[in-house]
Amino acid sequence: MIQTFTELAALRQQVRQWKQQGLRVALVPTMGNLHGGHHSLVQLARQYADKVVTSIFVNPTQFGPNEDFSRYPRTPEADVAGLEQAGCDAVWLPSVEAMYPLGVELTTLMRVPGVSEVLEGAHRPGHFDGVCTVVARLFLQVQPDVAVFGRKDFQQLAVIRQMVEELSFPVQLVGAPIVREDSGLAKSSRNQYLDAAQTEVATTLHRTLLGMREGYIAGQDRARIEAEATASLQAAGFQVDYAVLRTPDLKEPPHEGGPRVALLAARLGSTRLIDNLEF
Ligand code: PAF
Repeated sequence: MIQTFTELAALRQQVRQWKQQGLRVALVPTMGNLHGGHHSLVQLARQYADKVVTSIFVNPTQFGPNEDFSRYPRTPEADVAGLEQAGCDAVWLPSVEAMYPLGVELTTLMRVPGVSEVLEGAHRPGHFDGVCTVVARLFLQVQPDVAVFGRKDFQQLAVIRQMVEELSFPVQLVGAPIVREDSGLAKSSRNQYLDAAQTEVATTLHRTLLGMREGYIAGQDRARIEAEATASLQAAGFQVDYAVLRTPDLKEPPHEGGPRVALLAARLGSTRLIDNLEF
């Protein structure tokens, strides 16, 4: 039977008890409105730990003033039921007051320079400060041995990795593969903002990533690959924030050859989608 916690002291007591029994504890941080992609994170977490805690917290500090914080879907009952099915042991449901006791305005912020300032960071100023701030708090609250993050948020994982390494957080980070619909569309809570026609158009994202990989393998230069990807998204009806090829640490590649990640961020109407492909 899955346990739900709304009080930090009770959650801490349970985690302490598990650790005294020699059990490893994993944390899967989420903002709720869970789908198959999140359930796969829980299933992966089970391979690294004996007990899995999922946190559900729509984090106000990572949304910009014109972003979808207030309309972000909140579905806690369905989330808990799905987590139980996925094999999660406990759900941590902090209130905004529990997460930010001095209020959002007075909260101590984390900031990871460099990797958090490009791509998503450039288009969503302050976003990763909010992510790191809440993830650091979740790590301190839950004290997991392992934490699992989806690779769909490729840059988020890179930013959190830098924070964890630099601050020596005693947490093993695991990146989980992207889960896609049969159409290739990456699963995302934001997909539900799309109407049927937009959902069809959104499949262009994955096809564009595959095209970028093909171009790279065929030896095309980066400028051409990025320009063609941007043009194909625009032709499908997207407003493109970026369509780029980067090294796995998100640098502009210094030379030809070597591992790459193609990253896209684009808007369909008022819905902003991201996706990536590593090769
Ligand atoms: O990826 C998310 O859902 C969020 O950014 C996270 C990691 C739960 C922090 O709020």
